[in-house]
Amino acid sequence: MRVILLGAPGSGKGTQAAGLAQQLKVARISTGDIFRDEITKKTELGTRADEYVKSGRLVPDQLVLNMVFKRLDQSDCSGGFLLDGFPRTVDQAEGLNSYLAKKSLKIDYVFYLDVSEDVLIQRLSQRRHCPGCQMVYNLLTNPPQADSVCDRCGGKLISRGDDEPNTLKKRLMVYQELTSPLVAYYKASGHFAAIDGAKVAADVAQEIAGHLGGAKI
Ligand code: AP5
Ligand code: MG
Repeated sequence: MRVILLGAPGSGKGTQAAGLAQQLKVARISTGDIFRDEITKKTELGTRADEYVKSGRLVPDQLVLNMVFKRLDQSDCSGGFLLDGFPRTVDQAEGLNSYLAKKSLKIDYVFYLDVSEDVLIQRLSQRRHCPGCQMVYNLLTNPPQADSVCDRCGGKLISRGDDEPNTLKKRLMVYQELTSPLVAYYKASGHFAAIDGAKVAADVAQEIAGHLGGAKI
């Protein structure tokens, strides 16, 4: 199965992607996680992406598309994949369509996590994440058992630099301008569901599972 999770910064894409990819037994691909990893490792891609991620702008489409296509060509994606944070522009969506069409494949579901801006800002001010295993926490709604320590791998939890208020403001503006048109784009293509992303995480997961009811999960 091939699934896209669409939504604004802080809408819960990463939180939902972790469990959903496991349930569906598909590869989880988070372009944001890949960029952060490449930046930490100081690779050529990371060096090129760094200035965009740091300032809350989108990495140029061609760079993103090349990276994603290379990732989708890997064998663990042959049984399906879950995309978290990609596509993010209409050009990226068109690029993905062409890539899939060449392989006679298609996207099965697009889930749009709908969350109001004040909730997004509140959530991201309380987010902590583990740069080692990518687990996401929230000091209010999903705190780690021990202060600043990842429950899963014992790594030190940090705040993401791009959650700083000015960068977050930029990310929300970029989302409105460049990514939110994808809601109408995918609505028109069918197999689209808007999910109330403001509910508690377990209920959001249940709502998504309800849409996948007929599908194997
Ligand atoms: P990326 O890492 O994808 O960031 P984002 O889209 O801004 O989304 P976030 O990861 O901030 O939020 P999320 O929706 O995953 O929410 P989360 O589950 O963490 O991208 C970062 C940067 O990389 C971009 O700015 C850009 O520069 C670059 N980039 C990435 N992809 C790109 C692309 N395709 N093209 C170009 N550039 C690209 O949850 C947030 C918080 O809320 C957490 O604390 C969590 O615990 C909590 N929470 C989650 N769900 C709930 C709930 N239901 N109730 C209460 N709290 C909740
Ligand atoms: Mg995320």
